[in-house]
Amino acid sequence: MTQISIDGTEFETVAGDRLIDAINHAGVHLSQVCYHPQLGPIQTCDTCIVEVNGELVRACASTVAPGMKVSTIVPEAKAARTEAFDRILRNHELYCTVCDNNNGNCTVHNTTKLLRVEHQHYPFQAKPYEVDSSNPFYRYDPNQCILCGRCVEACQDLQVNETLSIRWEDPHPRVLWDGGAPIGQSSCVSCGHCITVCPCNALMEKSMLGHAGFMTGMSKPVLDGMIDVVKGLEAETGYPAIMKVSEVEAAMRDTRVRRTKTVCTYCGVGCSFDIWTKDRHILKVEPAEGPANGVSTCIKGKFAWDFVNSPDRLTKPLIREGDRFREAEWDEALDLIARRFTEIKKLHGPDALAFIASSKCTNEEAYLMQKLARGVVGTNNIDNCSRYCQSPATAGLFRTVGYGGDSGSIADIEQADLVLIVGSNTAESHPVLATRVKRAHKLHGQKLIVADIREHEMARRADLFMHTRPSTDLVWLSAVSRYILDQGLAHTEFLNQWVNNLEEYRKSLEPFTLDFAAKTCGISVDTLKQVAGMIAKAERVCVLWAMGITQHSNGSDSSTAISNLLLVTGNYMRPGTGAYPLRGHNNVQGASDHGAMPNMLPGYQSADDPEVRARFESGWGVGLPSTKGLDNHEMVEAIHEGKLRSMYLCGEEMSIVDSNANFVAEAFQKLDFFVVQDIFFSATCRFADVVLPASPSLEKEGTFTSTERRVQRLHQVFEPLEGSRPDWVIIQDVAKRLGACWKYRNPSEIMVEIAALTPMFAGVSYTRLEGYKSLQWPVAANGNDQPLLYTKGFHFPDGKAHLFPLAWHEAPEQPDSQFDLHLNNGRLLEHFHEGNLTYRSPGIHAKTPDTFVEVSLELARERGIESGSLVQLTSRRGRVRVRALVTDRVQNGQLYMPMNSTERPVNLLTGSHVDPVTHTPAYKETAVQMQVLEPHGESPLPRINHRFGHPTPQKGVEVERKWKQPGYRFPGNGLIQIDTAQVQTK
Ligand code: SF4
Ligand code: SF4
Ligand code: SF4
Ligand code: FES
Repeated sequence: MTQISIDGTEFETVAGDRLIDAINHAGVHLSQVCYHPQLGPIQTCDTCIVEVNGELVRACASTVAPGMKVSTIVPEAKAARTEAFDRILRNHELYCTVCDNNNGNCTVHNTTKLLRVEHQHYPFQAKPYEVDSSNPFYRYDPNQCILCGRCVEACQDLQVNETLSIRWEDPHPRVLWDGGAPIGQSSCVSCGHCITVCPCNALMEKSMLGHAGFMTGMSKPVLDGMIDVVKGLEAETGYPAIMKVSEVEAAMRDTRVRRTKTVCTYCGVGCSFDIWTKDRHILKVEPAEGPANGVSTCIKGKFAWDFVNSPDRLTKPLIREGDRFREAEWDEALDLIARRFTEIKKLHGPDALAFIASSKCTNEEAYLMQKLARGVVGTNNIDNCSRYCQSPATAGLFRTVGYGGDSGSIADIEQADLVLIVGSNTAESHPVLATRVKRAHKLHGQKLIVADIREHEMARRADLFMHTRPSTDLVWLSAVSRYILDQGLAHTEFLNQWVNNLEEYRKSLEPFTLDFAAKTCGISVDTLKQVAGMIAKAERVCVLWAMGITQHSNGSDSSTAISNLLLVTGNYMRPGTGAYPLRGHNNVQGASDHGAMPNMLPGYQSADDPEVRARFESGWGVGLPSTKGLDNHEMVEAIHEGKLRSMYLCGEEMSIVDSNANFVAEAFQKLDFFVVQDIFFSATCRFADVVLPASPSLEKEGTFTSTERRVQRLHQVFEPLEGSRPDWVIIQDVAKRLGACWKYRNPSEIMVEIAALTPMFAGVSYTRLEGYKSLQWPVAANGNDQPLLYTKGFHFPDGKAHLFPLAWHEAPEQPDSQFDLHLNNGRLLEHFHEGNLTYRSPGIHAKTPDTFVEVSLELARERGIESGSLVQLTSRRGRVRVRALVTDRVQNGQLYMPMNSTERPVNLLTGSHVDPVTHTPAYKETAVQMQVLEPHGESPLPRINHRFGHPTPQKGVEVERKWKQPGYRFPGNGLIQIDTAQVQTK
């Protein structure tokens, strides 16, 4: 801490902090148009000039030093700021009253007011460019663009998509996409960072245009006429009077525009943001202070919300009659469910029923679903879709460190010196989390190693990319661990103090020599040594993994191998270290945390443990079953065997996301009674006897838990669409009809019960989660949470971690002479999973209308395939016809098929072989043959898809180039500013 003087008053602040932050904290109002705390100093606008120790400097680019004397009020500084802002207004037409950005938070508007601008010194000059509306979600108006560079900075260095730049040398600079392409044909991934940080209306969401203001919906000629009138008035009245009018209009908007905080419903990163709505129209998604994401979003969180108001939404319960469904009233549907569940239970016992909770639903809803199964029906047959992806990671962590969750936060991943990504297409599956790695790698020297069978974006960015043979990660991970131990590079002190079972583990490593790993994994010994050296040398290492590890027949063991490696190198218990299995769905972590598992009550309390059961029995006032329940995989088998007769499935597209989809569909046809609860008539609904219309996240209260164990509240944005109901209401109605006396009036009461029965959530409450507040479990009764999971030891009785010995076996399904190709599958950035939600966004549909199969250049040459060829893929289970996309992302005989299709789901091909520990299907171990049906056809990916763009990487906005332009002068002292000593400190 140090003292500085600002305008004659002493303030205590932190030496080395940005001066602008200190000034802001002190409550001094200083203009600052290009500065954004999450982007750092950009230094393009010059509106923050202050005097420091007698010299004019930019406050955003200066750092606090002891004894500094700062003046914001000396006339020279004031004049410099006014001059700088005048130059900005040359690039921007002020027509606030009829502008959709006039919502109280427009930086240009607010700065005009702050600087008490009366008249423009430099008249507005239109730029010789058209408005670009070629992106489906946003438009750029060069005439309103003040060239602050915030968007460029965000795209280049925060999102790190590297699409935007400004060519300062141009006679009329503007923002450029891919150096000058139309936005819609550029590499822009529509993440929305640029729009979010734009300080004016130059970049705007199309959903705002004509909708936000009272007078902004007018036709262009009328609007232009209004703008002319306003400009005419300015000459006479000056800006203050005009500003007053626009502020009255902005205040009126508050009466009909609602801003509600919610949490993204797509992936497990846990982005949160305000949703701006007018009635049921979504004006925009505005991220600002989300603990996981700040101003960041990806295309889905920012733009993919059309599904909420889709005309396809279910609004009436449906009851099967023969081959058809008829609409029914809620009472009739619920009565039928209660009657059939009761009959089946009476006839076949409670274990003839099974329940599946949704990882798209809230924690409270997952909790109620397992309470319904256990406490009302009397079965432990309850599971959720983490069985399909994350259970092996959880098992690997349970074995080694004790808790099944990420060992730190996204902030830890950012801080790491080295990030190792194994089997995760992070840039597409966890986009905002990936931006943090890309930024740290680009700006802060973070090293990146990627191991994958496919060369995705993170692989291309990596310092070292290992193109491994499928299903062999356990081998190289164990070999690297062994090499580190053998070479004396292990963290001995950490092992001695915190880890058990070293000797047995070392013995188990015997087969894992570098030579064996090289032969098995297809990686050279030198590369493996290099990887071991980099990991051992790095001070802080984080490992990120996902379905490329878990969806294998050795998914649990490979996850364990990752954790073993982290233990050997001492990469736990410190900021910037740890294990990060990246959770797929928004609440897949929470669904398991809250007991939607056949063997665990909420908070990972064993259903086997009489003491635990007794606590829940007394809390719920019922007896609980003690026999282990069935997981998803076992449920399908049990239906085929005639043991399971009925199922209640909530928000899960199981008929096509489970592996071996034909086998699953056959099972569903055998059920005596099947209830599916969803917001659309999904592919799974086809097999239902009753379909219940539920409400999506925007229509309810509740909490989600993201990949970093972060519990966050979602606040209700809309009333449930008429006819639909929130899942917690429906589950409660079913329970009541089955005799339970549940009386929850809102989800907060469910959370009170969860906290009372679950030590891990003892301190979780809606008050502690109000607004943007969040908690990372475990949460003590006093509300203390644990962003870093292990600080005082591991989650075992003696506080020590456990090195877990492993063996390796070849994957059971390998390409052979009949099925000669390896088929991989996974997500795409712009679609979520099978696409039930994202296909309902017309913009996404236009850019990515269908699934495809990626074919390598070599294979395409060999078989005469081109992008657009229609091929048939056949596995031992089924076949799909799909168009080919020829790409160098895959190599040789390896294919990749995105999972975004309900008509051609990849799971018609995948098999029922599983990871024996968790029964997670080995989705990534599928052998297929490929037949060319039509050699020519239209490419499945249109040219407007971002993958065809050409990014223009550079560091930030390169403001030094602006300063070098002959026309540029640093406001205030008349000197040309070419001093780059105060280069950005980010
Ligand atoms: S990728 Fe596109 S939407 Fe995202 S910041 Fe860059 S230009 Fe903007
Ligand atoms: S478009 Fe970019 S450069 Fe132009 S005003 Fe907006 S953020 Fe600034
Ligand atoms: S999909 Fe994931 S990364 Fe994208 S906005 Fe939602 S939570 Fe964030
Ligand atoms: S805020 Fe723009 S130069 Fe400092």
